[in-house]
Amino acid sequence: MPDAQALDARAADWWQTEIIDMRPGEIRYRGYPIEELIGRIGFVEMVWLMTRGELPRKTQARLLEATLVGAVDHGPQAPSIAIARMAMTCGGSLNNAMASAVNVLDDIHGGAGEQAVGLYQMIAGRLETGSALEDATRQELDEWRERHGKIVPGFGHRFHPVDPRAPRLLALVDEAAGRGEVNGRHARIAREIERQLRVDKGKPIPLNIDGATAVIYAELGFPAPLARGLFCLSRSVGILAHAWEQQCQGGRNKGPMPKGWLWDYRGHPPREVPPSTAES
Ligand SMILES: CC(C)(COP(=O)(O)OP(=O)(O)OC[C@H]1O[C@@H](n2cnc3c(N)ncnc32)[C@H](O)[C@@H]1OP(=O)(O)O)[C@@H](O)C(=O)NCCC(=O)NCCS
Repeated sequence: MPDAQALDARAADWWQTEIIDMRPGEIRYRGYPIEELIGRIGFVEMVWLMTRGELPRKTQARLLEATLVGAVDHGPQAPSIAIARMAMTCGGSLNNAMASAVNVLDDIHGGAGEQAVGLYQMIAGRLETGSALEDATRQELDEWRERHGKIVPGFGHRFHPVDPRAPRLLALVDEAAGRGEVNGRHARIAREIERQLRVDKGKPIPLNIDGATAVIYAELGFPAPLARGLFCLSRSVGILAHAWEQQCQGGRNKGPMPKGWLWDYRGHPPREVPPSTAES
């Protein structure tokens, strides 16, 4: 029979974390007592502390905050928001609506920042070995297309000819780079990708919110997968607001199209069920 001490050690070994330490009456995040964090740091600083392990500098927190503000909402035309609202009308509760909505923030909607950070980093790697920006971008775009197809993550928008969030976010990076707070390399890379896409396609394929927030995540040194997680955090605010608004408005079993509108049926023309084998 293992003694009590050995059992305690086995239980403690089950989870290992550098994030939180806890004893009766004591909670510490990354070593800081929670009662000293409450009232002294903002939510964005907390996000940084939890995901990166240290408190951010003010300038880092400001840039991260810009991404979190920028991606909050894109209205019920965005699948994530529409899904949250539809879920609420099915009799669900806020947590169900939020989980359903966050689940669609994937490669093509809201999650493309993950691949965009990866792409920017690959181009940045080539720059470090002495390649010119234009060549490095061309080579990585060619490789990307070979591996993943013609669509480049973080670019293109169904609705906006220019996504108004993208130039603003890049301007903030430029300002921060001007003050020496970040390098600015990933903003230059994103602009070069945008330029080459325009040349290749013969029309603008604008930097979108996923691509623009990815620039900041890359500038701030976030690993690529966190770009997706941070987008989910930001969009969760919009999802919550829309789910709650829908709850207050009421509505039952609301589908993706107004009642009376139907889809385009392209199947077999009407026909009768043939007699079954047993009957024939
Ligand atoms: C967002 C997105 C789905 C919008 O698509 P859309 O407006 O329906 O664009 P379409 O699919 O009609 O494409 C229009 C043309 O632009 C091209 N295009 C669109 N986005 C492109 C991209 N990111 N890279 C390269 N070409 C792109 C398409 O290939 C198409 O060219 P074609 O007419 O020669 O076939 C699309 O741009 C995309 O998948 N982008 C990458 C994923 C992403 O960043 N998602 C976040 C969105 S905010």
